[in-house]
Amino acid sequence: MAARILTLDAGLAEAANRLQSGELVAFPTETVYGLGANALDSAAVSAIFVAKGRPSTNPVIVHVADVASARALSVDWTPLAEALAQRFWPGPLTLVVRAAADVPAIVMAGGTTVGIRIPAHPGARALITAAGCPVAAPSANRSEAISPTAAWHVAASLGDWVDDLLILDGGACGVGIESTVVDVTGDAAIVLRPGDVSEADIAKVVAVTTREEADGAGPVRSPGQALRHYAPRCPVDVRAFGESFDPAWISENDCWCLWIGDNPPQGERVVALGSDPKAVAARLYAALHEADDAGAVRIVVAGLPSDVAWAAVADRLRRAAVTQSASVMDAGKK
Ligand code: TXA
Ligand code: MG
Repeated sequence: MAARILTLDAGLAEAANRLQSGELVAFPTETVYGLGANALDSAAVSAIFVAKGRPSTNPVIVHVADVASARALSVDWTPLAEALAQRFWPGPLTLVVRAAADVPAIVMAGGTTVGIRIPAHPGARALITAAGCPVAAPSANRSEAISPTAAWHVAASLGDWVDDLLILDGGACGVGIESTVVDVTGDAAIVLRPGDVSEADIAKVVAVTTREEADGAGPVRSPGQALRHYAPRCPVDVRAFGESFDPAWISENDCWCLWIGDNPPQGERVVALGSDPKAVAARLYAALHEADDAGAVRIVVAGLPSDVAWAAVADRLRRAAVTQSASVMDAGKK
């Protein structure tokens, strides 16, 4: 079943109508494309889980257009939440707070907290405003697959799983990896998923603690952080910076190499990602998609530095490198 891709200008009104009537819409954000539904409509949100093949234990992020709407979704908008919202919104940061009574259980995957963010992408905010409701949206890909950073990535991943899916095209995503997820229910922030907003950025604004230190201090949950995630169909090897690696091996096999750092080897199946962590993040998923779609039998990512500036990229690569499980299924395909 084919998806339909429209520019933001051409498709915004129809997309907003669809959200209001309980349908799904894919839309761009600055991080990755989202598969959206009216967050206050349980049936609509449940269609997201079916389309993605997403386990019901994995909560979805709710997108809003302003801080007042975020506060309205929470029974306990903490000083931490307020400080981080003021500093980083709109932007690639999701705040996990205690949820208000009208947040459907399915959004929280049965828990008591909800993850909320205001996206920086103006098209995303225009859609949320036009729809007039908070928009629940995980990344617009099948569960465990590579997140989409272009409209056609969404069509390729979900076109066969959603009838007549409308995809708003906002071009390539600028950040390129999913938002940082931070638990702000307690006295100190806990980073549950690394992203473009680093732990050091957050620590400049509020106290930060680790999950381990917070254990016993409260009900800290980090659901949905499945080990295998963001993964192509073929195996992925990650080589650390300084690890020896023979580029000739790439050309002798149907392998692809994603090269981090300066002086990439020359070759048809070598993608130079550059040496700046934010630039690498922005290109990473598109490069994984390109290699995977070209039928790579293996993808080698070479030159991953170990320092903390690379935490978000390293997290995604670690999950992409986990061997494929039986949970990538075809059942339910349209
Ligand atoms: O950048 C992003 O965050 C993108 C765009 C579309 O906004 N969305 C995204 O959604 O990456 P998703 O579903 O692929 O990842 C959401 C993750 C979940 O895996 C879960 O770990 C965490 O956010 N999360 C959501 N709600 C949570 C909650 N109430 N408590 C703890 N973690 C939560
Ligand atoms: Mg995702």
